[in-house]
Order: sequence, then C-alpha cells, then structure tokens
Amino acid sequence: MGTPNRIENLMTDKGSVPVYTTAVVEQPWDSYTEQDHATWRTLFQRQRELLVGRACDEFLASQDAMGMTEAAIPKFAELNERLQAATGWTLVGVEGLLPELTFFEHLANRRFPVTWWIRRPEQLDYLSEPDLFHDLFGHVPLLMNPVFADYMEAYGKGGVKAHAIGPDALAQLTRLYWYTVEFGLIDTKDGLRIYGSGIVSSKGESIHCLDSAACNRIGFDLERVMRTRYRIDTFQKTYFVIDSFQQLFDATGPDFSPIYARLAQQPSLPAGDVQAGDRVFQKGTGEGWLNDGDV
Ligand SMILES: [Fe+2]
Repeated sequence: MGTPNRIENLMTDKGSVPVYTTAVVEQPWDSYTEQDHATWRTLFQRQRELLVGRACDEFLASQDAMGMTEAAIPKFAELNERLQAATGWTLVGVEGLLPELTFFEHLANRRFPVTWWIRRPEQLDYLSEPDLFHDLFGHVPLLMNPVFADYMEAYGKGGVKAHAIGPDALAQLTRLYWYTVEFGLIDTKDGLRIYGSGIVSSKGESIHCLDSAACNRIGFDLERVMRTRYRIDTFQKTYFVIDSFQQLFDATGPDFSPIYARLAQQPSLPAGDVQAGDRVFQKGTGEGWLNDGDV
C-alpha cells in the first residue's frame, strides 16, 4: 500500500481554496521524515512551554495521560489504546479537510479524524488548513475528558441534523464549534484558561486571547454564540468563556430545532459586538480590528 495523499488547500487567483477528501487511511508512520519529527518536536516544545498557566489543567493532564510527548510524532494506534480505554473515542487518519456531513458522522460515532501529515518548516506559525499538529496536539487531548468527549459526540449528532435542516442551521451550529471547540476559554479558580484547539495550536493566539486588551471576553450563552460571526483570517475579536465542560454539555442537550427557528428571526451579530445582557469579562479596545471580513 502506498503512502496516503496529502490534500492541501489550493492557491488560486481568489486566494486559498479548501479541497475536500473523504478517505480514512492508515497512518503511514514509517514515511515520516526526520524533518517531520523535528517539526513536531519544535511545535510541541514551544507550545507546552507556553501553555503552562494558560491552557486548562484538563488539557495538559490529558496530553500527558495519553502519552503524547515531544520525542516523535505519536502513533495513532498507541494513542488509541489509551483513548479507547478512557472514553471510547478512536482516532482515524484522514488525508485532509472533510466535507461537513462526513465530519459530523465521524464525531457522532466517537471517531475523531486526524490529518496524517504535518506542516512544512516554513509553516510553523500558520497554515490555512488543519494538519497533524493542529488535530493531534490541539483536538485530541480533551477527548480523554469524559464530559468533553460526550459533548463532541452530541455535537456530531447535532451536525447531522443541522445538515438536513439547511444552510442557516448549519452556519449557526458551526459558530458553536468555532467559539467552543476551536476558540473556547474556560473560567477556573486560577483565572481564565484556554481549552480551544485553534488557540492551543497557535503561539500567537495562545498569548493574544488571554493577554491582549483588544479582544472581548464574554460569558458563554448558547444562542448568543450561535448568532455571532467570526474571523478566519485574524485573531478572534471575541472569545466566549464557559464555566465548565458540564455547562457546555448541558447547553447542547436539548433539541436545537426551536433554537434554529428562533434564530431565523434575528440578525447575526458582528464578531466584535458587545450586547446588552452579555456577561463581560473584558470589553476589548478593538485595536487592530479590520472592519470587514467576519464570516
Ligand atoms: Fe480544528
């Protein structure tokens, strides 16, 4: 069997365009080069050092408990032994970005798709699509947490339903994923901490989200989040703060159909808005914000 494909965004005259794939592949561990392992090592060391006192304890402890270390790119099969024992989730290798429904169906069945390939050395600080470092370092550790693991399954099931309802429902549900799974903060007895994968896998955003005066930090409210547009090209203008993973799971327990119906009557909100009724941890100065480009 040959090495799986490396499916990356295509650069066109309209910018970077995502390319989708659906295959589940065996992780071609023997095909990783010394440079691939060195990239993992560099990113792992850098982020772990930065995330002490920034990421929530559950994230760091889970990463250790899985046996994820800087030594080399981990083998999915070895991580799976511990993950399956802890919460029944399984990592599956993929070649790149998945279509929404395929992605939701994996989550609904407690399978997390992990891109098998890692970024190139010149992409250490940014690349536009998920790679092995983002998926494995960023997303996988919290799947060891029983409550978060259940939230992710519920999200997948909600995604399958939203996909059948239509594009507006899907956009609203995607905002929930964005502002929790990718860019979520959590309030702890020691202060605000990071749990979102998009943050923990980014050096710049790991600092920005907690230290910057520019951004809003606002208490999590399900419908507020589902109305709020977001940034894909810059740091977030707003981060939403949960009190606990239980709060997140409980909020997503009820059927979303009445919520979609209600939200259909309301306009979406700009990414940087602060609304009356928001529980405000910080109102951002807005410094450096671009006026357009919220998605
Ligand atoms: Fe992600």
